[in-house]
Amino acid sequence: MSEISVMKDRIRELAKEKNARIFAHYYVPDDVQDIADEIGDSFYLARRATETDADMIVLCGVRFMGESAKILNPGKKVIIPEINADCPMAHMATVEMIREVRKEYPGCAVVCYVNSTAELKAESDVCVTSANALNIVRKLPAKDIYFIPDRNLAHFIDDQLPEKHFIFNDGFCHVHNSITPEQIDKAKELKPGALVLVHPECVPDVVSRADYVGSTSGIIKYVDNSDADEFIIVTEMGVLHQLKTRHPDKKFYTAGPMQLCPNMKKVSLERVLHALCDEEPEITLLDDIMDKARRPMEEMLRLA
Ligand code: 13P
Ligand code: SF4
Repeated sequence: MSEISVMKDRIRELAKEKNARIFAHYYVPDDVQDIADEIGDSFYLARRATETDADMIVLCGVRFMGESAKILNPGKKVIIPEINADCPMAHMATVEMIREVRKEYPGCAVVCYVNSTAELKAESDVCVTSANALNIVRKLPAKDIYFIPDRNLAHFIDDQLPEKHFIFNDGFCHVHNSITPEQIDKAKELKPGALVLVHPECVPDVVSRADYVGSTSGIIKYVDNSDADEFIIVTEMGVLHQLKTRHPDKKFYTAGPMQLCPNMKKVSLERVLHALCDEEPEITLLDDIMDKARRPMEEMLRLA
């Protein structure tokens, strides 16, 4: 038996013993995706966290995902295998700026992409993910929308909701933001028959070249329902593992070699095993922050 199989068996045994559920995002390494009880996009993971009867959630993803699970389940132990797996975009807005904007635009809605710290969520009116941002913002009564932290997702939503007035924040995902329109053009030239599926964290000139724009699970569902055989996948390449497993007969390409989130890739089988053995690193947040952040998270679940 290989070392990897032994590790996977031990992880499964420990998870059963401790009544723990392993949640994984599509961007973590393939072997971690394979041992997960639940795999999904950030919205699915947040929603499933409210439905599980487990005593412990092992969140294989970046820190904000563990925080979201904890905020929605303050009574459960949430552990995150790699505490240094943090999403830089989660820190690209400030509480001070939110308060400034509220002063300048009284009555505005502060819409917080879940890829943000608990402190930012606590100052916001509603959270969204890329899977539900359009629907939720459309439903908000406010005309002025301060969308944090991602400027690219904000532009994608703004373009489809001309009745709203967006106030932009200068945050971005370094992985998606660095994918260029020239790379898409080149990939299309090499594979002219392939459909281009893009995550909305990409820059507008990349989004405008897409046949479909959606969250990680949106991209997977699009392929599930498509008769096409070839796709250029313009998001983090962890999604390719799911796509290839579900559709071994179809062909998937990326637009370039850099579609890799270094933080998501810090989560390894070894780290999952250690986390389950030691029941740490545990996500802990101040009660006050958690209570304030729960309201916009629950509002997202209600409106989505
Ligand atoms: P999804 O909500 O599509 O899973 O995306 C999360 C993320 O971190 C994208 O970079
Ligand atoms: Fe954050 Fe980008 Fe990584 Fe997603 S892909 S976790 S937004 S750095």
